[in-house]
Amino acid sequence: MTKEEAYLRIIALRKELNNHNKLYYVEVQPVISDFEFDTLLKELQNLESQFPEFYDENSPSQRVGNDINVEFNQREHKYPMLSLGNTYNEGELRDFDNRVKKALGEPYTYVCELKYDGVSISLTYINGKLEYGITRGDGTKGDDVTANVRTIKSIPLVLSGIGYPSEFEIRGEIFLPRPVFEQLNEEKLKAGEAPYANPRNTAAGTLKLQNSSQVAKRKLDCFLYYIPAENTPTVSHYENLMMAKTWGFKVPDYTKRCNSIEEVLEFIHHWDLQRKTLPFDTDGIVIKVDNISQQQNLGFTAKEPRWAIAYKYQTERAETQLLSIDYQVGRTGAVTPVANLAPVQLAGTTVKRASLHNADQIALLDIRLGDWVYVEKGGEIIPKIVGVNIEKRNGTGSPLIYISQCPECGTPLIRATGEAAHYCPNDEGCPPQIKGKMEYFVSRAAMDINCAEATIDLLYRNGLLNNVSDFYSLKKEQVLKLDRFAEKSAENLIKSIEDSKKVPFPRVLSALGIRYVGETVAKKLAQYFKSMEALKAASVEQLLEVEEIGDRIAQSLVEYFNTPKHIAIIKALEDAGVQLKLSDEETKTFSEKLTGYTFVITGTYKHNSRDQMKTLVEKHDGKISSGVSAKTTYLLAGEKPGPDKIQKAQKLGVKIISEDEFLKLIE
Ligand code: IVH
Repeated sequence: MTKEEAYLRIIALRKELNNHNKLYYVEVQPVISDFEFDTLLKELQNLESQFPEFYDENSPSQRVGNDINVEFNQREHKYPMLSLGNTYNEGELRDFDNRVKKALGEPYTYVCELKYDGVSISLTYINGKLEYGITRGDGTKGDDVTANVRTIKSIPLVLSGIGYPSEFEIRGEIFLPRPVFEQLNEEKLKAGEAPYANPRNTAAGTLKLQNSSQVAKRKLDCFLYYIPAENTPTVSHYENLMMAKTWGFKVPDYTKRCNSIEEVLEFIHHWDLQRKTLPFDTDGIVIKVDNISQQQNLGFTAKEPRWAIAYKYQTERAETQLLSIDYQVGRTGAVTPVANLAPVQLAGTTVKRASLHNADQIALLDIRLGDWVYVEKGGEIIPKIVGVNIEKRNGTGSPLIYISQCPECGTPLIRATGEAAHYCPNDEGCPPQIKGKMEYFVSRAAMDINCAEATIDLLYRNGLLNNVSDFYSLKKEQVLKLDRFAEKSAENLIKSIEDSKKVPFPRVLSALGIRYVGETVAKKLAQYFKSMEALKAASVEQLLEVEEIGDRIAQSLVEYFNTPKHIAIIKALEDAGVQLKLSDEETKTFSEKLTGYTFVITGTYKHNSRDQMKTLVEKHDGKISSGVSAKTTYLLAGEKPGPDKIQKAQKLGVKIISEDEFLKLIE
């Protein structure tokens, strides 16, 4: 294919993929299968890597983000991002309507919308291209999270349709759809980690992740609801949103124009029940005066617009009696207190248990056994106790004393300074921790051994499994002796264990469940050290050289490898034939031109994405490190490099090279 042909095909593919993206994520009406989409995307990715000169940050191939950590720059808002006045009752809403009526002295229309429960975002488009995504921050300036925003598939990178202003801002709410949130939490629980509290906090946390490829995996979504400007495309807020929809924005359909406050109240009552069937969280209704010049006449107070108000639904709350408290120990040893309650109806379900979070929360509530407590189900799946009805206390209960020993193994609990949770430190001898480690070890993302939780429990209780290396000494005859096992199922288990010996080293490393060493960190470590042998021998200083490895992870690794029991487990895995180093295929390099060189990369590059630059360094046997230090050979500076890195390199006399100079090195 000639360069010209490639260029034309790249442009055509980008256009087609952008359109399918819109059909799938914005209009939710896909016309091709996922497979067909992926095939087109792959074709584009191949062409783009063959012809890096056609790189475009707005290409649909860039939606996957990159795994460079960035600190956010602050950016000023052109129009301050104000909040909305709140009300929880009809009377106050009528007061709002009376104020509007009096101030305008002419007929007016409202637009009712749902109040989406996420994080607000301001998007700026210049000549139809996404330029900035800025969080609300303090209202006057916020964090520039553009790189993360670019990974959200329902936000157009390039606008379609006609009639958009050459430069404009549009605001909306980034949120995590409930099914995505629930799946994320299921995965967390499986991995033995504490679940996220609710979709809103998770969305907020995700948007602030410093690594956009992590954001891309989280499947955030975005609804748009406001165009702030003096010169909006039409004089009606509603019409503006309908126009924005034709440009490719996801403007929700849950809106209505209302001609009276009675109609507004009807809308509110309708959604009070209906909102529970939606796949995202809403905590109320936003009521806005539709006409833009009327909006301007009404104006703003210091904090909020006078032309809009939020009606918030009451969080549902029930009152019931606290019967007892259980203490659960998770895979990592963290202890969670859980309240057992007299069953009570709340938001359509019977609630019998509620989370009490930690010792501080119990002390704060001054809760006692037998107390009548208030239970709420906000955005959370697990209901929580939010208060005590002191009037109903009969004086017999005494304040609760938090347990000091592990309920599972009796070991005295510890609580690190600054941490909310108590921990059982007996990670090698505490049953839920031992079993939890094994459950994590067999999980799909780790060793992918087909062994259910109940089977692990059975093998553990029968003394056949005490640590993860014991899987590899299991014999079919031993398994056959257990209840529930027959010839075929025993064979399957042994075969699945045998198959896991082919699992690549990075996954084996993450399967060990070393604290703070998840999939991503394990990949980085494996890439850098190439083998367990080398990793085991690494000092804290050497570990800190690796990109993204900080003190906490380095300490945890050194501690892990200083424990004789862990060394024995690794030895047993090695004897069994588990992959403890990268394969020849994985370590194969293009050349040894960069052997012994350590690079730090900063800025953006003309010909390659940052990921491609990293791969190039590694494929020529060089190393990537996160911070400039005396050990850095080159600081590889693209466009808009980080000023701190440049300064440090100059101070330490580290040579700074450009992308072209780098490409010459490996030519
Ligand atoms: S309009 C000047 N419309 O609620 C008015 N806001 O409590 C701009 N929100 O910061 C806001 N859904 O994050 C508007 N349909 C909606 C909304 C909405 C959710 C959020 C937004 C805002 C907060 C105010």
